[in-house]
Amino acid sequence: MMNKLSKRLQTALDWVTGDILLDVGSDHALLCVGAILQGVVKQAIASDNKEGPYQKAQVTIAQAGLKQQITCCLANGLEGITKEIDTCTMLGMGGLLIKELLLAKEVRYVKQFILGPQSEQTELRTFLMNHQFQIVDETTIEERGKFYSLMKVIHGEMSYTPIQCAYGYINIQKQEPSWQAMIRKKINLYVEAYGKTKDIQKQAQIQSKLTELRSVLHERH
Ligand SMILES: C[S@@+](CC[C@H](N)C(=O)[O-])C[C@H]1O[C@@H](n2cnc3c(N)ncnc32)[C@H](O)[C@@H]1O
Repeated sequence: MMNKLSKRLQTALDWVTGDILLDVGSDHALLCVGAILQGVVKQAIASDNKEGPYQKAQVTIAQAGLKQQITCCLANGLEGITKEIDTCTMLGMGGLLIKELLLAKEVRYVKQFILGPQSEQTELRTFLMNHQFQIVDETTIEERGKFYSLMKVIHGEMSYTPIQCAYGYINIQKQEPSWQAMIRKKINLYVEAYGKTKDIQKQAQIQSKLTELRSVLHERH
């Protein structure tokens, strides 16, 4: 019996649509196994570019008795994909790596992406805007004191300001409590850093960051 998925993976899975899921950077393949066991998709592909995770995925899939429904691939990103994929997940990777993987010509086979960048979100949103992608939803998950961002992305157009690229237009609109908590945590860290420095230039930089962070946070008083 498979363990319950983490809140982060379950939230990503709740966004999966269609019949075929491709999980790039699948590592343990838990998302693919969850997707089949929960009846979310009919077929899944667990893909990773490293031998260790690839082996691990094969074990998880065999133990779950899902060899017929889940294919395991040792591949770099979307390389080798030749058929339509309803949802492709790329979770637990840096934003720069995700950006690089989305440059592959195979992106055209994918209807919807669910991206979970652990860093460089500004760069990723800017890239998406400049490469005919559209973010249709965003959410923030708080799990064991850490914050995780998820983006639902399709092929399309969007036009963001630099602030919207940095924080996410949808996040700013939605003002989810978890996203607000992440912004508040950043504000607290900057306030703390401000109190620790006597350097006027540094103080000015921190002050401008604080103004920016407070401007995206729409708190009810
Ligand atoms: C931190 S794990 C995330 C595992 C899982 N997706 C999750 O979110 O829990 C990142 C995985 O991405 C894989 N990876 C890194 N670069 C990759 C690439 N270019 N193509 C496919 N997989 C890659 C790593 O081998 C690793 O298993």
